[in-house]
Amino acid sequence: MYSFDKFHELIAETIDQNPFSKNPNELYEPMDYILNIGGKRIRPILTLLGTDLFGGEVEKALKPSLAIEFFHNFSLMHDDIMDNASLRRSKPTVHEKFGLNTAILSGDAMLVKAYQFLEDLDAELFKRSTQLFSRTALEVCEGQQLDVNYETKLNVSYEDYIKMISLKTSVLLGAALKLGAIIAGAKEDDADKLYQYGLNLGIAYQLKDDYLDVFGSLEHLGKKHAGDIFENKKTILYISALEAANEEEKEELLYWYSSNTDNIDKVYAVEKLFRKLNVNRKLSTLIREYTNKAHSFLDQIDVSEERKAYLRELSEVLIDRQG
Ligand code: IPE
Ligand code: IPE
Ligand code: MG
Ligand code: MG
Ligand code: MG
Repeated sequence: MYSFDKFHELIAETIDQNPFSKNPNELYEPMDYILNIGGKRIRPILTLLGTDLFGGEVEKALKPSLAIEFFHNFSLMHDDIMDNASLRRSKPTVHEKFGLNTAILSGDAMLVKAYQFLEDLDAELFKRSTQLFSRTALEVCEGQQLDVNYETKLNVSYEDYIKMISLKTSVLLGAALKLGAIIAGAKEDDADKLYQYGLNLGIAYQLKDDYLDVFGSLEHLGKKHAGDIFENKKTILYISALEAANEEEKEELLYWYSSNTDNIDKVYAVEKLFRKLNVNRKLSTLIREYTNKAHSFLDQIDVSEERKAYLRELSEVLIDRQG
């Protein structure tokens, strides 16, 4: 068994051992940049943990785990364009630093590189992995599109929201784990349960991300404070606030979410409403519920409790995170 730090190190080493072309530099430098400005590496660690859970060879999962991390970073490069975000991991975003066209193309190339990390797998494993990977990648695009659609839609229901975050965020956590399980040769049924664990944990993860956008500290988060409020994102905070609001509060909230302004007063006003309407209480309950649901799938997996210890611990680390 390895420790979390060890997994983190293994991923950093594997990235170093797989350098990419430098030519043309304009295409590859942004990839190097985004990979080297920090990042928690949660998703590739999940792949390694998925393999470890079923007693597989962690070494064999290393390159495939990079497929997941490269995909994630590609999605962030494009997400930051779509979200007008200027800061990522406390550094300028790729489009801010290198320009929009470079961020688009470099992101595309990073997606292609992600697939290349699956090339060494045996034929059958390669087929199953790419099927999972492609399905997941499309789902992430669907989720991202819904996220954008909802910016201009005021009446997004809780169910719409959960569907959107399941697609844009959770399926990748599920797929990261399942990929690890497949590499370890786990039974299909167990691999699917692990996927469900990841899916539910991923929902809790995005709920917390929405919370941190407004209530996290810039120092820990490294993203622009309240970017979601500026962009009229229909986050769990907005949905819970609307649900708890009286007519007057509702009107105020809808007013701010119909405007596209850079005025900081919008953030002050919305934050004040969020606090007044106690959105945090609902959020903590939801995060707990989804984490418990995740654990109920972990419970059903047919391996020893000892082997599950990392995943039980990890979910707590993820939802208690400050960045
Ligand atoms: C950011 O993911 C995007 C979400 C889906 C919440 P992370 O918070 O895992 O990003 P890094 O890779 O650690 O920076
Ligand atoms: C990101 O969601 C989901 C994907 C990148 C697919 P967010 O837009 O909430 O992520 P952050 O807050 O920018 O990291
Ligand atoms: Mg974003
Ligand atoms: Mg986004
Ligand atoms: Mg966010």
